[in-house]
Amino acid sequence: MRLLTEMDGERLLQAAKKTRNLAHAPYSGFQVGAAILAEDGTVFSGCNIENSSYGLTICAERVALFKAVSEGSVSFDAIALVTDTDEPVMPCGACRQVLAEFNPDMIVVSGTIRGKSVSRKLSELLPEPFGKKHIS
Ligand code: THU
Repeated sequence: MRLLTEMDGERLLQAAKKTRNLAHAPYSGFQVGAAILAEDGTVFSGCNIENSSYGLTICAERVALFKAVSEGSVSFDAIALVTDTDEPVMPCGACRQVLAEFNPDMIVVSGTIRGKSVSRKLSELLPEPFGKKHIS
């Protein structure tokens, strides 16, 4: 794991903002873009994909993560998300748990389309996550 530079954060936010335009969100109208930074510097992006059977909707953060894992990346330093809100929003509880599986200390950068942003450690957003240590 390495420290997240301001440039990394900016690069992730730009990627998330771009991918947000691809969101399939005809039901909520709430478009989200995400971009996750793998240890080797590769960025994987994702958008939310809704379904007419509402519960099958998937958040942008999990799409980005699952794309990365399915391409062979399993170590992540940071994830960014971008929304059209007055204030930056943080990932939902389900996404926090899924992200914590791979790095409970990853940095979460959240930005608005108008350029406001904040960063948090995932461990602040999800303290004491359920993990593999509880199973083995
Ligand atoms: N959504 C995300 O993609 N990420 C979040 O962090 C919060 C919620 C999506 C799910 C759904 O398509 C829409 O936003 C409204 O909840």
